[in-house]
Amino acid sequence: MRKISLNQDAEYLKNEQYQDSGNLNARAELHRRFSSNKSGWHPWVLQQMALSPNCRVLECGCGPGWLWRDQLDKLPAGCDITLTDFSPGMVAEAENALSSTGPNFHFETADIQSLRFADNSFDVVVANHMLYHVPDRSRALAEVRRVLRPDGRFIAATNGRDHMRELGEFSRILLSEKEGQSLARRREQVSSAFSLENGQGRLAAYFKRVSLHLYEDSLEVTEAAPLLAYAASTMGGAEILNAELTALAEGWIESEIQRKGAVHITKSSGLFIAQD
Ligand SMILES: C[S@@+](CC[C@H](N)C(=O)[O-])C[C@H]1O[C@@H](n2cnc3c(N)ncnc32)[C@H](O)[C@@H]1O
Repeated sequence: MRKISLNQDAEYLKNEQYQDSGNLNARAELHRRFSSNKSGWHPWVLQQMALSPNCRVLECGCGPGWLWRDQLDKLPAGCDITLTDFSPGMVAEAENALSSTGPNFHFETADIQSLRFADNSFDVVVANHMLYHVPDRSRALAEVRRVLRPDGRFIAATNGRDHMRELGEFSRILLSEKEGQSLARRREQVSSAFSLENGQGRLAAYFKRVSLHLYEDSLEVTEAAPLLAYAASTMGGAEILNAELTALAEGWIESEIQRKGAVHITKSSGLFIAQD
């Protein structure tokens, strides 16, 4: 039997990594403070979605609802937006933040592999940085296709192979060979599941037209603590980063910042627009 990787282990994802927005917050904070592209990921995604008035939208794997929270004034009139995630904690956070805002939001705990919505229910479905967590991607994409109207659009955002690649390089310097290999394997599992490099092929089985749109960005990090918090928030990161290793990593990051002014980290993110 195929062993499920931590990255696609539903129990670990729902009960630990994404039980609430704590881990995502640590990662978002690094991006928020040190990204070179100041226009921001969520405004860019919303722009790419090109929503029209009265459209019906489904978000799968919505997390705490960040895509919508600061962009309510940009939503066309009459949009009806259903936010879903398989983590009840995430759905609760999204609901707390958005239920009283005015636009027509609905909230539901749902796994993208098995949606309860009727065929042809939505004009747009969005999956922002979540398809690489889904073990049965074929089932998920068949579900997305089913609930989308024939002329609907699927927006699937993900990372490329090189996203945050320097973190892998730093860990090779700081970790034992075995720990370094296990982190490298985890990165490979995520990018082999659904990435900027292989997403087009994965989506082409369900949609006639698939286009790739890239978001230009990088990180120029000038403080050690947020980078360490990011590393600790990743899958398995907190177990590896014990007190001794954290102190070692902190010293190393600070000396890099002193030497170069900032630690440069590559970002590789974007999205596919899939439609018939
Ligand atoms: C990396 S987070 C992204 C959250 C949000 N889309 C964002 O970008 O801020 C991945 C989210 O997908 C959810 N998720 C993972 N597998 C899922 C599945 N099979 N069905 C629905 N949600 C899932 C997780 O609970 C988590 O909230």
